[in-house]
Formats: sequence, structure tokens, C-alpha cells
Amino acid sequence: MATGFVFLWFFSFTLLSSTVSIAKITPRFPSSIVRPEQLSAALSTKNQLYKTKYFTQILDHFNFNPKSYQTFQQRYLINDTFWGGAHNNAPIFVYTGNEGDIEGIAQNTGFMFEKAPHFKALLVFIEHRFYGKSIPFGGHKDVAYSNASTLGYLSSTQALADYATVITDLKKNLSATDSPVVVFGGSYGGMLAAWFRLKYPHITIGALASSSPILNFENITSSYSFNNIVTKDFRSESENCYKVLKRSWDQIENKASQPRGLETLRKSFKICKNYINADSLEG
Ligand SMILES: *[C@@H]1O[C@H](CO)[C@@H](O)[C@H](O)[C@H]1NC(C)=O
Ligand SMILES: *[C@@H]1O[C@H](CO)[C@@H](O)[C@H](O)[C@H]1NC(C)=O
Ligand SMILES: *[C@@H]1O[C@H](CO)[C@@H](O)[C@H](O)[C@H]1NC(C)=O
Ligand SMILES: *[C@@H]1O[C@H](CO)[C@@H](O)[C@H](O)[C@H]1NC(C)=O
Repeated sequence: MATGFVFLWFFSFTLLSSTVSIAKITPRFPSSIVRPEQLSAALSTKNQLYKTKYFTQILDHFNFNPKSYQTFQQRYLINDTFWGGAHNNAPIFVYTGNEGDIEGIAQNTGFMFEKAPHFKALLVFIEHRFYGKSIPFGGHKDVAYSNASTLGYLSSTQALADYATVITDLKKNLSATDSPVVVFGGSYGGMLAAWFRLKYPHITIGALASSSPILNFENITSSYSFNNIVTKDFRSESENCYKVLKRSWDQIENKASQPRGLETLRKSFKICKNYINADSLEG
């Protein structure tokens, strides 16, 4: 559970950081070509950003118990508009899905859509097991999340094996076994992309991990390392911004602990959801 929260927190920080960079005059990173107006235009017509597919995936890649032969439907999204084709060995860009609905992730990963025409790449976004529509145990979330014996199948190791299976099978189906694969991801998805390159180097020639604490494990790196990097990031933009943010935390916590304090904070930050706490405001 704690890990889930940490990942969510990374993800919200990624979003916050991109909000900050939008405000800059010269963007340091290529801006997304999937701009909101194009996105809504693409999604409102029949001509969408991608096609949705399902793959019959094995529940357990790592043992031979009869239970392990169970399968589930794993969703992936595919866009072949820019693809140079199998006969040209044109590349395949794969997003290794995070802990969330893959559509939201694909719609916010303009970088891959932006790079695809230049590399004549096929775009594939694979959903992480136990999220979105890729729920094991018959697609029933309440069953899948019921206890340790069902949730035991929710691990990054299984997720990486899922991605290896989907990619290998898809390449076979497209007669594209010689097309190089590059994996992409942000936050936890980027950790998966980097780990995928380490664990399955015969399936991918490279990985791009964005805003990902790839080697941030307990007792290996300092538990403050992620926060230190985020702090450096803000500070490199503006010393004042860093100071103001830092000074705000005590005040937010004070206010939040007062009666109706959270409501006041919600209004002053113009947050539409009622569900907030001091931590989420600081993050
Ligand atoms: C692929 O993405 C491009 C750019 O957003 C879009 O114009 C095109 O319709 C998409 N193709 C498919 C097959 O969804
Ligand atoms: C765990 O949940 C599954 C699915 O709901 C159920 O069949 C199983 O009996 C439960 N196991 C335990 C140990 O509670
Ligand atoms: C490959 O083709 C088979 C047969 O049509 C299909 O069952 C399977 O889902 C396809 N694989 C992928 C990754 O789409
Ligand atoms: C990290 O180190 C502490 C202190 O030695 C130990 O109690 C804990 O189990 C370790 N955690 C892991 C994940 O190895």
C-alpha cells in the first residue's frame, strides 16, 4: 500500500513539474504535439489517437501450479499511422504502462506521437495488470483486489513479463521480428522501461525513463534522494520559488489543522475536489 502511495506521489509531482515548465518562455524539453484542442478533436471524431486491442495474458509467468494457467484480458493501444512497416524493419515504440488507466497515459505522452513520424515508428501502449481494463480474475476488481493470494500477482516482475509476452507476440503477428523495440515510460512506467531493458535486453534495444527513480530502493539509496532532486529542480529555476514553497508548508499544516481550515485552503487554491489534506497540497 505504501508503495502505491509513493508512486502516485511521484506521478503528481511529474504533473506539477510539467506545469512549471509550461510557464517558462523557452521550454527545455520538446513540447507535446498532442495539444488539448487537437486531442479533443481527435477523440471527438471516429478517427482516434489509437486502436484498442486485448491480449489473452497468463496470470503467473513464474510457476507451473494449475492456478498459474489462468488468463486475463490485457489491454493495449496501437497506432500504425507513422509506421514504416515490417518490410523496412521500422521501429516499434512501446510505452510500459504505469499504475493507471493506459488511455490517460497515452493521451498525455505526446512525446512518442511527436517522435514517431521521424523514426517511422509503430506506437504501442500496454496497460499494467490490475489497472484500467486489465483486471485479472474475470475482470472483477473486487475479486482481484480481495486479498494477498489474488494481489500476489500484482508485481513489477509479472508486469515486465507481461510486456515481454505482448511485444514478442505482436511482433510475430506483424511479421516484424526484426523491427527494433524501444521502451518508454514516466515515473513508475519509466522504472519499468529501464528495468525492462535490463531484464529483457534481447527484446528492446533501448529505454527512455522520464522522471523515474530507477534505483531508488530501501537501504540502497537515501530515502531523501527523490525529494532532494525535486528540490534541486525547483531551486535551479528560482531560489525564491524554493524558499516560498518551503516556507508555505508550516502555514499549510497550521491552517489544515484548524476547524474548517481545509475548506479555506481548498477555496484559496481553487481545488474542485473536496478530498484534500495538507500533504496533498504540499505535494
Ligand atoms: C495516430 O496518431 C495520429 C496523431 O495524433 C492521428 O492523426 C492518427 O489518426 C492516429 N492513428 C490511428 C490509427 O489511430
Ligand atoms: C481471497 O480472495 C479470493 C477471491 O475473492 C477467495 O476465493 C479466497 O478464498 C480468498 N482467500 C483468503 C485466504 O481469504
Ligand atoms: C496475435 O494473433 C493471435 C491470433 O489472431 C491473437 O490471438 C493474439 O491476441 C495476437 N497478439 C497480440 C499481441 O495482439
Ligand atoms: C533496511 O535496513 C534496516 C536496518 O538494517 C532493516 O531493518 C530493513 O529490513 C532493511 N530493509 C530492506 C528492504 O532490506
